[in-house]
Amino acid sequence: ERENMTLIFDRYNDKLAILPKEQGWITENLHLYQGFWFTSMHNRISVEAVMALQDTFKARPTDIYLATLPKSGTTWLKALVFALVNRNHYKNNSLSTHPLLVSNPHKCVPFIEGEIFKNTPTYVDPHSSRLFATHIPYTSLPQSILDCGSRFVYLYRNPKDVLVSLFHFTNKLRDESRGQMTFEEAFKLFSKGIMPNGPYWDHVKGYHKASLEHPENVLFLSYEDMTIDTMTNVKRIAKFLCCPFTEEEEAEGAVQGIVRLCSFESLSEINKHGNVRGGLPSNVFFREGKVGDWTNHLTDEMSSVLDEITKEKFHGLNISY
Ligand code: A3P
Repeated sequence: ERENMTLIFDRYNDKLAILPKEQGWITENLHLYQGFWFTSMHNRISVEAVMALQDTFKARPTDIYLATLPKSGTTWLKALVFALVNRNHYKNNSLSTHPLLVSNPHKCVPFIEGEIFKNTPTYVDPHSSRLFATHIPYTSLPQSILDCGSRFVYLYRNPKDVLVSLFHFTNKLRDESRGQMTFEEAFKLFSKGIMPNGPYWDHVKGYHKASLEHPENVLFLSYEDMTIDTMTNVKRIAKFLCCPFTEEEEAEGAVQGIVRLCSFESLSEINKHGNVRGGLPSNVFFREGKVGDWTNHLTDEMSSVLDEITKEKFHGLNISY
């Protein structure tokens, strides 16, 4: 597998070599490609994979994509939508255990830029909608996805909480040789737009614009809203994906069941041990799962710098959290 990927990635060596580079968070470098920062080879999600997808990926109209920036609630969204679209397979314990009770959500829903070269079973079932995730910015998506009208659920989060979450994630995964990152460093990179798949603001704006232009294809949700009323939002997602809950299901508590199964408490307990693909520990995706932890990390000055950038970048747009 590794060899195969190396061969594919080698095709993009020349293209990669001329891209602007910046210091990375977890890994050494980030590369600027089509206006966004990406890691490179030997990472789970890399700029070469994005290039390869742009060249070769074949989407289907029935595909469902869960799009996010890292640390915006990807794991939660994967769990919720996986449970939602597969709810009839796992009703009444017809299969003895639900996959989410034994597997990390990242194993249940693959990233197109992480799994594209591997034939996992989730990929090949021609009878049901394929469920994928991606961190790729809207404007860099493979053309075939845009052309065939697949549906997207986009989840975004308050930039200050994304920054804090990414800071902790980075320090859990950084190689010892690089040492720990200071919060000051993280803040500087983030405000310059330098983070994997960032700038934050451009990523959010891209999907926001798409949701206005193609409301039937892109559902735009915030982590904060999901936290306040998960049930209503799960019902919205179900409706958007053309598999609304029936009255009977609602009466039976199907929505509550999914929300409970995918809650931070439940998933963080289930994923205490083990690894996800790529060798990351399963528990690294669960920290606090709360809104507003930024108040414990940002100085007033840092906070107002980010407020200014956000005000300017989101000017005239109805994006709130
Ligand atoms: P914090 O670091 O603020 O706790 P991603 O999945 O995109 O990597 O995002 C990770 C963030 O989502 C982390 O935020 C994590 O704790 C939070 N999270 C993970 N599972 C969650 C869940 N089931 N409900 C709510 N938040 C969750």
